[in-house]
Amino acid sequence: METDRILLRPWLKSDAEALFKYASDPEVGPRAGWPPHKSVEESLEIIRTVFNDATNTWAIVLKETGEPIGAMGYGPSCQCNLPAREGEPLIGYWVGRPYWNQGICTEALQIMIAHIRQTTEIKSLISGHFIDNPASGRVMEKCGFVPTGETVVDPSQGRDTPIRVLRLEI
Ligand SMILES: CC(C)(COP(=O)(O)OP(=O)(O)OC[C@H]1O[C@@H](n2cnc3c(N)ncnc32)[C@H](O)[C@@H]1OP(=O)(O)O)[C@@H](O)C(=O)NCCC(=O)NCCS
Repeated sequence: METDRILLRPWLKSDAEALFKYASDPEVGPRAGWPPHKSVEESLEIIRTVFNDATNTWAIVLKETGEPIGAMGYGPSCQCNLPAREGEPLIGYWVGRPYWNQGICTEALQIMIAHIRQTTEIKSLISGHFIDNPASGRVMEKCGFVPTGETVVDPSQGRDTPIRVLRLEI
């Protein structure tokens, strides 16, 4: 999957240093419900254990530099407090802070949705964002997600802040 400026490709073990560079930023992970990475070794472990399914998890790579600057993916189903339909996948993403507000996440989500439409029978996708992280909601809305009107609290995401729920009918 690619556009003029980005590529979505499977994560490689050799991405660990770049992953650490961006995922150790305290402004990134906590907004998505995970703690900042503490070492390159931890980032390598995440690549091995979390980013290891090449069918639904990708590095967002800037073509100009070849560097992974973020992640995009969907889970086979939601293991969280979101009010998901049976088997409905949850999407997740982040982009390294130097690259925020350049339309990169929106572009990456758009090409993942196109890929899902072309290669799967998935009928809808669900996601949510902490209410104090409106940029993420904006990304979803630009890609056609619609707020369900629900908010949930999911302490397993590391915070008690309400999460605004959105869904995309494929
Ligand atoms: C959320 C995140 C992925 C967005 O990535 P990005 O590449 O900057 O997103 P885009 O540039 O495609 O779009 C961002 C949109 O949010 C808007 N935005 C940015 N800050 C905002 C704010 N404080 N309030 C409202 N909108 C905001 C931008 O203006 C832009 O919308 P526009 O195109 O209509 O102007 C990125 O900020 C990030 O990685 N954050 C930390 C991790 C995270 O939040 N992951 C998602 C968890 S649900």
